[in-house]
Amino acid sequence: MRVLIDTDPGIDDAIAILFALAHPELEVVGITTVAGNIGIGTTTRNALRILALAGKNVPVHAGAKGPLTREGVDETRIHGADGLGGVAFPEPRIEPSGTDAVAFLSETLMERPEGTIDILALGPLTNIAELVTRAPEAARRMRRLIAMGGAVHERGNVGPRSEFNIAHDPEAAEIVFAASLPFTLIPLDVTRKVRADHAYLARLADIGTPRAHAVRDLIAAYFDATTGGESRPLHDPCVPVLALRPELFRIESMKLSVNCSASELAGAIEPGKHMLDVAMGVEASEVLDLLSGAL
Ligand code: RIB
Ligand code: CA
Repeated sequence: MRVLIDTDPGIDDAIAILFALAHPELEVVGITTVAGNIGIGTTTRNALRILALAGKNVPVHAGAKGPLTREGVDETRIHGADGLGGVAFPEPRIEPSGTDAVAFLSETLMERPEGTIDILALGPLTNIAELVTRAPEAARRMRRLIAMGGAVHERGNVGPRSEFNIAHDPEAAEIVFAASLPFTLIPLDVTRKVRADHAYLARLADIGTPRAHAVRDLIAAYFDATTGGESRPLHDPCVPVLALRPELFRIESMKLSVNCSASELAGAIEPGKHMLDVAMGVEASEVLDLLSGAL
């Protein structure tokens, strides 16, 4: 399965990327970065550092420096000043490629046979919105888009009803929702069920590989940076897992729109006009097993 990963690493993005790079059934054709959890310079540098740790040479293309029209939401309190919770990743071994993210996404989709590339979106949808706007013919060639974002019945993590990836750039999300792509959304309703506890950290530590140690350290940093509690949700890792094992998720079709107001509901997903698939249930322990098994 060939995938392009669009990401704002980001502690949980890093876990998702290390999993995707490690799993034998996934070929990561390229990584595009977007500003979100932290600025574009840091998300791009972090993508390169994650590749250095994994010993993989995958092209990295920097994308949007901010949302299409708004200021965006600050998340550094969770991901730390370096965006990776201070976890010791190597320095980048390669430079980011010259062409920008959207040019790379459209060139790759045009060059590769139609319907052979999945896009896995782990951050705000700014790059994807630019792709469907500037290169609709290329966008139509993707096999599918799988994105972490939104909250259906769950409370939000940015305001009462909004989830960060959508709330950071609601206009971009509405453009992507309206593009009639083969699109599966994984909201907080599912990702909050996939939780790493301290026993899981110990399990990861016993694996003994550098990537497993890095994931353990990333989750430990996640505990330190937030209200702790008994476990932490693994939001972005659900995206590559759904690509590989959709049968682990209960998927429903819904007609949704994105709230693009200036109120505290900005970024909330609401009953609306655009039909898309939404993951609403998950075999969480199976997802955790697949993650640790690949590392
Ligand atoms: O709401 C969770 C999402 O916001 C994840 O993608 C996480 O990386 C943060 O960006
Ligand atoms: Ca993310």
